[in-house]
Amino acid sequence: MNNITGIKYKINIAENNFKHNTKCRVCGNEKLHKFLSLGPIPLANSFLRKNQLDKTEDFYPLDVYFCSNCSLVQLLDVVSPKVLFKEYPYITGASKPMRIHFNGLTEDVFENYKISKDGLVIDIGSNDGTLLKCFSKFGLRILGIEPASNIARLAETNKIPTVNKFFNENCAVNVYKEYGPADIITATNVFAHTDNLENILRGVNHLLSNSGVFVIEVPYILNLLNNIEFDTIYHEHLSYFGVRPLTHLFRKFGMNIVNVKKIPVHGGSIRIFVQKFVTQQPQNVTKLLSLERGAKLDSLDTYMKFAEHVVLIKNKLVKLLMTLKNDGNRITGYGATAKGNTLLNYCKIGTDILDYISDTTPYKQGLYTPGMHIPIFSEEKFHEDPPDYTLLLAWNYADAILQKEKEYRKNGGRFILPIPEPKVI
Ligand code: TMP
Ligand code: ZN
Repeated sequence: MNNITGIKYKINIAENNFKHNTKCRVCGNEKLHKFLSLGPIPLANSFLRKNQLDKTEDFYPLDVYFCSNCSLVQLLDVVSPKVLFKEYPYITGASKPMRIHFNGLTEDVFENYKISKDGLVIDIGSNDGTLLKCFSKFGLRILGIEPASNIARLAETNKIPTVNKFFNENCAVNVYKEYGPADIITATNVFAHTDNLENILRGVNHLLSNSGVFVIEVPYILNLLNNIEFDTIYHEHLSYFGVRPLTHLFRKFGMNIVNVKKIPVHGGSIRIFVQKFVTQQPQNVTKLLSLERGAKLDSLDTYMKFAEHVVLIKNKLVKLLMTLKNDGNRITGYGATAKGNTLLNYCKIGTDILDYISDTTPYKQGLYTPGMHIPIFSEEKFHEDPPDYTLLLAWNYADAILQKEKEYRKNGGRFILPIPEPKVI
């Protein structure tokens, strides 16, 4: 294994760009246990241009902790949001499965809640406006709040009214003054990204109408643990939620979970509906809480075992790739995902193994992955010059991708799935 790519670039631990928390972000407990260390590695979305490859790259610790009081799994090293989200390469609308998913979300809201015809929907972390576009089909007024300036501009070009700001209490007060109360507030993949959750919730509390519904989606910790989705751990994802810590959090603000359901995105997530002035705990919340107790999500031992599994996956994957490579096979990566960058950096998989990574996002094409510096090309290149094997870094879209690449597979091309156990399919 010693000819696997070593770190051949300059490392800089970017001390000035992150802070280290000493308390749990949900309950304030100081008794936190580190159970896994995946870093130091660069930020998962800090793709590089060719002329940046020789420059010193910023690395950050990637250590994962467990709170023995409220069971929240979390990072304590918090990279400044200004560094993380100023320019952002992830565009929701680039993934067809996400467009379909968001259509489903809007239908879910309309089926379960009475929303007035001229109601206002506000999406926190609205990205390119893909979700809001689905809502606008129902005739609602829409407003996006998006901190990344490049993405906010893109949304405006797509005719999605967008405030280019971080959402917090201050932002909520200003939005309320201009637009009034919101009937629906959505925050998909925002909670896991936020250090100061209380500031967001104060803002939501201010902005949400009394009968309004707040909908959040977060990756679910049980899926992370069951499928060993360790690569979904990266600096942007500060918390790995179960229902238990979320219940704890909303109660602090007089809000309650009124519905929860499991959804298949991002390796398995939960969609949670929250309202003010409702105190009854619905049955499906009780059910998930008991599932979490059964899975021993409140025990450090559960997480220690998970960490052991992660090391096993790393060793097995590297061995598999090396064997295939030594047998003369050409291998690429499929999907230049953020999680792919955790996987590649943690396992030190570089250009000596993967020729390139194909990705459908135009923004990423022509760039290089952070840390391992693997070039990213379009999907056309993958079809024009197909490799013998391709490592499925976008495993969360496995079904859609395997279906889409039927021709490649029929012609002998093979996908390698990295988790829950590396295997060729
Ligand atoms: P995500 O897992 O964060 O949604 O990112 C998915 C990435 O994978 C995104 O960069 C687009 C890319 N992708 C492909 O290249 N081909 C595909 O068929 C799909 C679904 C995604
Ligand atoms: Zn806690």
